[in-house]
Amino acid sequence: MSYGLLKGKKGIIFGALNEHSIAWKVAERCHEEGAEFILSNAPIAMRMGELNALAEKTGSEVIGADATSIEDLEKLFDAAIAKFGKIDFILHSIGMSVNVRKGKHYTEMNYDWLEKGWDVSSVSFHKVMRVAWEKNCMNEWGSILALTYIAAQRTFPDYNDMADNKSYLESIARTFGYYWGERKVRVNTISQSPTMTTAGSGVKGFTGFMGYAEDMSPLGNADAMDCANYCVAMFSDLTKKVTMQNLYNDGGFSNTGVSQKVVNLYEKE
Ligand SMILES: NC(=O)c1ccc[n+]([C@@H]2O[C@H](COP(=O)([O-])OP(=O)(O)OC[C@H]3O[C@@H](n4cnc5c(N)ncnc54)[C@H](O)[C@@H]3O)[C@@H](O)[C@H]2O)c1
Repeated sequence: MSYGLLKGKKGIIFGALNEHSIAWKVAERCHEEGAEFILSNAPIAMRMGELNALAEKTGSEVIGADATSIEDLEKLFDAAIAKFGKIDFILHSIGMSVNVRKGKHYTEMNYDWLEKGWDVSSVSFHKVMRVAWEKNCMNEWGSILALTYIAAQRTFPDYNDMADNKSYLESIARTFGYYWGERKVRVNTISQSPTMTTAGSGVKGFTGFMGYAEDMSPLGNADAMDCANYCVAMFSDLTKKVTMQNLYNDGGFSNTGVSQKVVNLYEKE
């Protein structure tokens, strides 16, 4: 269903890899709501070619950029400015941990891998905002979003250094969000339920994670489409004064101590 919430709005969406990606669903919903945007991903991810199908479906241009490279980001934003003039929204839907990928235990952290994952998952958000800031290319009442996970606040085994990366990401949203206030632009993170995507399923024991979260959430897990709808709301003019927040889209998981379903698992007669 379309409400025309993003009619006339222009943006950049980072991180659609395949149809399971959260950013993929966000792009589809933004298109339905009337937005125009550029799709971007790391050149290596684009070689898989799946992004072209999304571009065709949403009438979007695809421009590759490694989000850790200021040079790539400058080229991307210059192209966006040439196409749209100023823009209204940015989605940062990017995450990667080499320690997670290679199964390195948190207590045995490889620090070179940590730095790489931190740059991709956290610092890239600063770099994206910095390039947008320097090019002064956001319209007033624009909206910038990044996706995060509750492991930033609470410990989940095997989420590894991504937990620390997400804490850092959320802090960047608050700190840079303060400065963006001068330009009437809002910056927030959405803390999403575990979702079956390429990045998500890379975490050891992920189906257990998902099942536990489902049973602990009064409304059940939020899926990628729920997240996409929340992103649309956050890009729309209905949320103009929401900024520097970490917003939970998790079916109530974050405020549940324990659910009856989980208590029942431990009940002894
Ligand atoms: N899946 C979950 O359970 C879950 C839960 C909460 C938050 N998130 C967050 O949602 C976001 C999107 O992840 P997803 O679950 O849709 O998985 P995904 O694997 O589909 O998306 C991750 C994206 O990051 C991109 N990326 C990696 N390195 C990059 C680089 N150097 N430059 C540009 N892009 C790069 C990948 O190509 C990919 O498109 C991530 O920030 C993730 O941490 C996911």
